[in-house]
Amino acid sequence: MGKKKKSKTPSTGKPSSLIDTRVIFCGDNLDQLKKLPDECVDLIYIDPPFNSNRNYEVFWGETKEKRSFEDRHASTQAYIDFMRPRCVELHRVLKKTGSFYYHCDWHASHYVKIMLDQIFGENFFQTEIIWRRTNAKGLAFRSFPNDHDTIFYYTKSNDYTFNRQYLPHDEKYINQFYKYIEPETGRRYRLADLTNPNKNRPNLTYEFLGVKRVWRWTKKRMQDAYEKGIVIQTKAGAVPAMKRYLDEQEGNPVDSIWADIPPVQAQAQERLGYPTQKPLALLDRIIKASSNENDIVLDAFCGCGTALVAAENLNRQWLGIDISPTSCRVMAKRLRDVCKMKEDEKLWRIGRGFVVRDLPRSEKQLREIPPFEFENWAVIALGGVPNVAKVGDMGIDGRIYPVSAMPKKDKGELGFMDVWYPIQVKQKDKVGRPDIDSFEAAMMREDRSQGFFVGFAFSSDAMREIQAFLKKTGKIIRPITIKDILDEQIAYKLA
Ligand SMILES: C[S@@+](CC[C@H](N)C(=O)[O-])C[C@H]1O[C@@H](n2cnc3c(N)ncnc32)[C@H](O)[C@@H]1O
Repeated sequence: MGKKKKSKTPSTGKPSSLIDTRVIFCGDNLDQLKKLPDECVDLIYIDPPFNSNRNYEVFWGETKEKRSFEDRHASTQAYIDFMRPRCVELHRVLKKTGSFYYHCDWHASHYVKIMLDQIFGENFFQTEIIWRRTNAKGLAFRSFPNDHDTIFYYTKSNDYTFNRQYLPHDEKYINQFYKYIEPETGRRYRLADLTNPNKNRPNLTYEFLGVKRVWRWTKKRMQDAYEKGIVIQTKAGAVPAMKRYLDEQEGNPVDSIWADIPPVQAQAQERLGYPTQKPLALLDRIIKASSNENDIVLDAFCGCGTALVAAENLNRQWLGIDISPTSCRVMAKRLRDVCKMKEDEKLWRIGRGFVVRDLPRSEKQLREIPPFEFENWAVIALGGVPNVAKVGDMGIDGRIYPVSAMPKKDKGELGFMDVWYPIQVKQKDKVGRPDIDSFEAAMMREDRSQGFFVGFAFSSDAMREIQAFLKKTGKIIRPITIKDILDEQIAYKLA
């Protein structure tokens, strides 16, 4: 299928007078959704984290936050209690003609269904989609392995967009049914019956190529089709039939079992290293089925932005919400890299590019975000690369690679580069001498000539130690306060 021409976005940058699109909102979706007007989006997809999938662990694997988030959704009931007000808000912002997809798995799917029936109404439940997410390997299971996710599809009324999706026929089916090949063109076809099931059609009852039947078509139409080579008789006396070409068929309609979309593989180009990242093909299908060009797509738990990228590629308008500043930065980068969109307020105002709103920008907000997010925020604000492994970071939270030391292509991982400066981040009121001591140890161990230490403030002991370390070793520790970062707007430029 040819690529559709991208339709022009209105010059105001606002396809809807109700809401802004091409925006990533950082924050709790309950708060962010409350700011949206009623009935303003066409399609909602959500993929919220569940118990075992606590956000911060989910993002980078095992983290220091493990304990603090241990009991976040300690029970299914707590999860449903967390999700219910959010789903009520989502239902409110969905247009009357809109569609809603909730992605979950066996942990809570049955409870989610009941909750959604209550919010959307049982009558507006459309389909339970089973997405085969993985193929269980090995014999370590004492039961049937859970290999699928569940996606509940609801609409807000009976008047909704649904564009049927098709899968190409498989080879076995093609060989079995489309067994003829036209010698002149090489086109595959099958023979379709032209006889009429209604035997009481005197005007369609006639003899054609020596065979008398009740036909579907008039004699004239049959004759025309025969002359064009569309109606054929395989041998004398055989019932004439119509050629149905394979290349004119749409394929098999997609049903509720989706087994053709693999999970994001380790080597996949789209992979960002986010374990809960969903495949683009999955979001493509949902968006194509339940929206049209320029419709507005909302993902209120957008992670690394799969739904936003799919929506952008399909010429839909979109908005995303995620509570994690790190996720927001990851998806902004993805939109820049993959969709070649510019993150630029001025461009966005004239209808191009996108913006990220509500990233933490005050000392107060930064004190309140989880330590893991704080570390990432500070490292990224300095233009550094956060450590992927958050446990056992041995006094280093991130690394700055000076521009002069760009990665060598064949080395791949940044970690192999020789020139880098460590960054240590402490989300405490005052960085003290012991904090500096352990950073010095890390700098000595890694043999770094320069390092950055970020905190809200530094005690005078800490400052004295930094001077003494310079005198003794010639190594520089640069103390950077959050105020420095905020005042200089480094955060805005580099975040
Ligand atoms: C399972 S991930 C979504 C992955 C996404 N579908 C993708 O393909 O990248 C869930 C996301 O929900 C976000 N999240 C969790 N609680 C949230 C809340 N209350 N408001 C907004 N986002 C939230 C997490 O930060 C996480 O990025």
